[in-house]
Amino acid sequence: MSSNSNSQWGGRYAGGPSAVMQAINASIGFDREMWRQDIRGSLAHAAMLAHVGIISPEDETSIRDGLEAIAGEIERGEFPFSEALEDIHMNVEARLTERIGEAGKRLHTARSRNDQVALDVRLWTRDAIDGLDAQIADTMRALVERASEHAATVMPGFTHLQPAQPTTLGHHLLAYVEMLSRDRSRLADCRARMNESPLGAAALCGTGFPIDRHMTAAALGFDGPTRNSLDSVASRDYALEFLSACAICAVHLSRLAEEFVIWTNPYFGFVRLTDAYTTGSSIMPQKRNPDAAELVRAKPGRITGALVGLLTVMKGLPLTYGKDMQEDKEGIFDAAASLSLSLAATAGMVRDMRPDMARLKAAAGAGFSTATDLADWLVRELKLPFRDAHHVTGRLVALAEQKDVDLAGLSLEDLRSAEPRIHQGVYDVLSVEASVNSRTSYGGTAPANVAAMAAEWKARLA
Ligand code: ARG
Repeated sequence: MSSNSNSQWGGRYAGGPSAVMQAINASIGFDREMWRQDIRGSLAHAAMLAHVGIISPEDETSIRDGLEAIAGEIERGEFPFSEALEDIHMNVEARLTERIGEAGKRLHTARSRNDQVALDVRLWTRDAIDGLDAQIADTMRALVERASEHAATVMPGFTHLQPAQPTTLGHHLLAYVEMLSRDRSRLADCRARMNESPLGAAALCGTGFPIDRHMTAAALGFDGPTRNSLDSVASRDYALEFLSACAICAVHLSRLAEEFVIWTNPYFGFVRLTDAYTTGSSIMPQKRNPDAAELVRAKPGRITGALVGLLTVMKGLPLTYGKDMQEDKEGIFDAAASLSLSLAATAGMVRDMRPDMARLKAAAGAGFSTATDLADWLVRELKLPFRDAHHVTGRLVALAEQKDVDLAGLSLEDLRSAEPRIHQGVYDVLSVEASVNSRTSYGGTAPANVAAMAAEWKARLA
């Protein structure tokens, strides 16, 4: 065997790879991220090999000790990672043999890197889902806390980013709680579907050794083994589902981030972020830039990129394993890390934000935001058909605009110019408080509704 040929298949190979071959082929630069999962999988595999009598109990003990020592080396930053050994699987295995000799060479019995990598990526993704789920729950908790604090804080509700109807800050924040709760359930669905062990599919067709795939599946916390060996090494749809759930969640966070950007703009001045979540400018001393929000707004770019990237890698790939699939990992790792950081920054900003309640209230009443309340009053009190009420109200908005007053600023005489039966009682519905208080339909904006919904979420998230 030539000195630079791969020690794992040196039997057939006399020469080593070209530098370019090694550079394009090696994944150790990024797949070392999965070292914990790789060692976990190998420990389960070795225990099973010994259990069914394929290796001796002594070999299993020395494999276990060796793998645990290697975990220590990696943790302490002392592991000699080698690009010539391509990936995390061969790095760990070669090091194991270096440390324990003969027994190390028996570990790969009835296993291939194809089922090994399929296992490691599944384990990694499952761990990532668990971590992200906890972070989403924390972000929801932050939103719920602020929502119950601001259940009655009026603010403008927008459609088309134009003033639409008054709402409350609590109601607005709880909208994101709903989105994030669906994000959690999407990740949970993905986790449940992917929770089957591919280990034992070997290269692609299974193995003639009397392995016990149910045993390794149970040891690794899976519901059971996968049912088709070809599918086991060929499929990455769980990673695609994971990325798509991450992308949707990142998009939700980006919408709130954009609202922080808008709300903190001095022309709006709805909320303030403290020094903890803003940055200054190196040239403009007055600046307070919402960089964290802008970056959360930007992260869907790379997360969606990872999803589209892997979809493109998998499209048209013939069964079973192809080296193409090595390209799954960086996207998955980066997407999970980006979403994790976005969640942390979002939870931080939500806890940090200082709403300006006076400005929110003034803005809530601007833009004839209670026009719908006026139209509804005409329907309720004067029995006008809604379409006619809409028309009458439209004329009154035009009149108010012309006189430069809000709807409550119109005199009874002004109001009667559009509909003579209007009486004093109409003024009761023209304030923002009256407007939000009236919206008691289930899921509506009324402060009492919002407070109750916040309490319900608080209990669910406790
Ligand atoms: N580093 C490879 C990957 O990430 C591991 C599997 C390699 N299998 C093979 N037959 N070359 O996909």
